[in-house]
Amino acid sequence: MAATDQAMKRVWEESFAEQIARQAYNTAPAEAVIRTVSYYLRDRAEHGVAPAGMQFLEMGCGAGPNLLWLAQKGIAVSGVDVAPTALGLARETLERNGYGKQIGQLLEASVSAVPLADASFDGIVESCVFQHLGRADREAAFREVARLLKPGGVFVGYMLDAGHTIYRMKAGQDLPDDPGTLVLQDGKSKVYLSNIGVSHFFRREEYESLLAGFRVIDPCLTTYYIPKAEAAKRGYTEYLQSMWTVYAVK
Ligand SMILES: C[S@@+](CC[C@H](N)C(=O)[O-])C[C@H]1O[C@@H](n2cnc3c(N)ncnc32)[C@H](O)[C@@H]1O
Repeated sequence: MAATDQAMKRVWEESFAEQIARQAYNTAPAEAVIRTVSYYLRDRAEHGVAPAGMQFLEMGCGAGPNLLWLAQKGIAVSGVDVAPTALGLARETLERNGYGKQIGQLLEASVSAVPLADASFDGIVESCVFQHLGRADREAAFREVARLLKPGGVFVGYMLDAGHTIYRMKAGQDLPDDPGTLVLQDGKSKVYLSNIGVSHFFRREEYESLLAGFRVIDPCLTTYYIPKAEAAKRGYTEYLQSMWTVYAVK
């Protein structure tokens, strides 16, 4: 594993230790992922169940809520993550819910260098992962998406947009060689974005080059204010989530 991946592993292992202690790790599939993968499956699944043999990969699978939802649709699921604790939680979640047989591979690896064969997957999902990569790793992760997908396969990504409250508050503090990227370190809880380190806030035009060669590239923007009480917990009076859901077909 590269030095940057080792550093990321430390950050995320620390984050998961805190998330487990506070019972705060994510157990809910991302609504954007469900909605968008559902569009893709609508033409292919019967009664909401995917055709036999369909394989999806989640890059940065965390504790596995998206994998569980995909498995419930009949899909064979694989995940990569830098944090072994996350992979353990993902396996436990899938097995406890009766989907152990649908697990392909759960691998400790970086999304920027996935040790799996070309054109292995019908679908790839990433949710709140690519946004935490520095420029070189981010570009490599998108190249891995293109390499790992079968022709006609779908990529669904869920990532920060430059209209997000945190980016708007810190505009001008971008890394000089990577516009849109901040290093967020407020010294508080690693459960929240504001202390998670490198965070990239995407702009629509970036996807054309990051996903060059894809037949369909359709970034959809969702914005919503989180409840004031939750914003206050994070130290904000008002907190706008502004997120891209990227739907792309190779
Ligand atoms: C915000 S969590 C999201 C987890 C999951 N996708 C979800 O939606 O619940 C980010 C996840 O990405 C993983 N991660 C961060 N950088 C990574 C990298 N370079 N390669 C693989 N996994 C990474 C972390 O360990 C963590 O599990």
